[in-house]
Amino acid sequence: MTGTATAIAHPNIAFIKYWGNRDDALRLPANGSISMNLAELHTQTSVSFRDDLRSDILTIDGKEISGAALARVKAFMDQVRRLAPDAGYAEIVSKNNFPIGVGIASSAAAFSALALAAARAAGLNLKEKEYSRLARLGSGSACRSVPDGFCEWNYGSGDEDSFAVSISPASHWGLIDLIALISDTHKKVGSSAGHVSALTSPFQSERIRTAPERIAKCRQAILEKDFKALAEVSEQDMIMMHSVMMTQDPPLFYWEPLTIRVIKAVHEWREEGLDCFATIDAGPNVHVICTAEAAPTVREQLVKIKGIREILSSGPGGKAELL
Ligand code: PMV
Repeated sequence: MTGTATAIAHPNIAFIKYWGNRDDALRLPANGSISMNLAELHTQTSVSFRDDLRSDILTIDGKEISGAALARVKAFMDQVRRLAPDAGYAEIVSKNNFPIGVGIASSAAAFSALALAAARAAGLNLKEKEYSRLARLGSGSACRSVPDGFCEWNYGSGDEDSFAVSISPASHWGLIDLIALISDTHKKVGSSAGHVSALTSPFQSERIRTAPERIAKCRQAILEKDFKALAEVSEQDMIMMHSVMMTQDPPLFYWEPLTIRVIKAVHEWREEGLDCFATIDAGPNVHVICTAEAAPTVREQLVKIKGIREILSSGPGGKAELL
């Protein structure tokens, strides 16, 4: 079978974090989560099924990929082939306009773009929630990059209903994410391995138990554009996730000394009246979320902190799309 399709998707930054699975193979999350897509960052992926191939081949940013990253993509393509049994092997070409593997959710953009492109190239015509479910099998957070803007990934009762939906479109609230890049080296322990041992932290069960309250607060803060409420609940949730990470076996310390410096600076700026808060995924980089009004001043302040390599900036992004 032959068939080609191209899709584009954005990474997302979680306000309420996903950490740990209740089913690792299906990537069914231990708790629900909420995020915002990032408009300025994107991954574009083309998938071409070809009869002459004896295996899937993958190129990312011009480099042919082998090893664990290829194995993960092949396993994902097997899921697509389960839905479309006539589909053979494919050539997959992916391009990012941002650094990957450094805690800015490159896997979310990668697997949401791949879900759309691979399914369409295989002749499938899926609904948004089915694309979101499929993307989830590649990387949990990828399901949140499928719908538009501010998205919630439902805990769900199982594979069928664990997907993300849009709470409000990108146009709803012009928040800005200023991403302070502290390191551009590839992280040693990725999130997939981290999720598996999340329950070895004594704090994980308490984080999961209290997540629904934070989800409700966060959803309401977004709907009401209540920045203070969003800042408080998001920072608390982020610190809880990193407390779990640091107390897992083996412990995961994603923060660098500069990470904590930026967090503390952001707290001072907020006390002085600037609308900003910090959130961090599985890496050392700090996402400073701010209102559009506060963003220029926050950026000026961030630039003064020595050691930050680069500051990326993005507003809320739209849904993943076939080109
Ligand atoms: O989708 P994964 O397996 O890369 O997990 C992402 C986990 C965090 O980025 C740390 C949190 C989140 O909800 O995005």
